[in-house]
Amino acid sequence: MTFDLESLTPGERYRILASIVTPRPIAWITTTDEKGTINAAPFSFFNVFGSNPPIIAFAPGNKDSETPKDTARNIRRSGEFVVHMVTAELGQAMVDTSATLPHGTSELTGLPLTTVPSEKVAVPRISEAPIALECTEHSTIEIGSNRLIIGLVHLVHAHEGILDEKGYLQHDSYHPLGRMAAPDWYSRTTDQFEIPRPD
Ligand SMILES: Cc1cc2nc3c(=O)[nH]c(=O)nc-3n(C[C@H](O)[C@H](O)[C@H](O)COP(=O)(O)O)c2cc1C
Repeated sequence: MTFDLESLTPGERYRILASIVTPRPIAWITTTDEKGTINAAPFSFFNVFGSNPPIIAFAPGNKDSETPKDTARNIRRSGEFVVHMVTAELGQAMVDTSATLPHGTSELTGLPLTTVPSEKVAVPRISEAPIALECTEHSTIEIGSNRLIIGLVHLVHAHEGILDEKGYLQHDSYHPLGRMAAPDWYSRTTDQFEIPRPD
């Protein structure tokens, strides 16, 4: 089968692309607004893109009104955010924070989550998340209704037992959730195996 994306609606293109380019990692992102209210939302158009300097990128689409989502708006204001990685245990809470709430209302209210101060950015992090990356905005590229936010990673927080002293992963202790077919499918990453590379 062949699909000509130019003849499809944005919603149809999203359904196809978001379902086949999988599994994707999920960035669960906290930001703060001008009053210090903590905003949290997940983004699976996300990945790491380099280590020198350490950069990540994620892509919040605009709202239907063509205005930026709160996450993009807050980053445009303060230039700071925290990316958390999500495990299956945190899946429900992560999805709960994807609710569309009025600007200034925290998605974390009522959820069994704790926020603690970050060290290099003013945006708090979620302590239950196994990994938290303190980031500043490097740049934002606007392409149609998409915003590609590129961030510099300054500090990595990892729960005890995930990384050793040298930063090597302890494989049995980290199972981030994968985003699968749109809109609501996920995969666990408990079944991992190794394929050594040629010399
Ligand atoms: C697992 C998951 C992944 C998501 N990924 C994205 C994404 O990559 N880009 C996007 O614009 N919205 C994505 N969303 C929807 C946003 O989380 C949702 O629009 C949210 O309300 C945005 O919050 P904000 O306005 O506080 O920034 C995703 C939702 C879920 C549940």
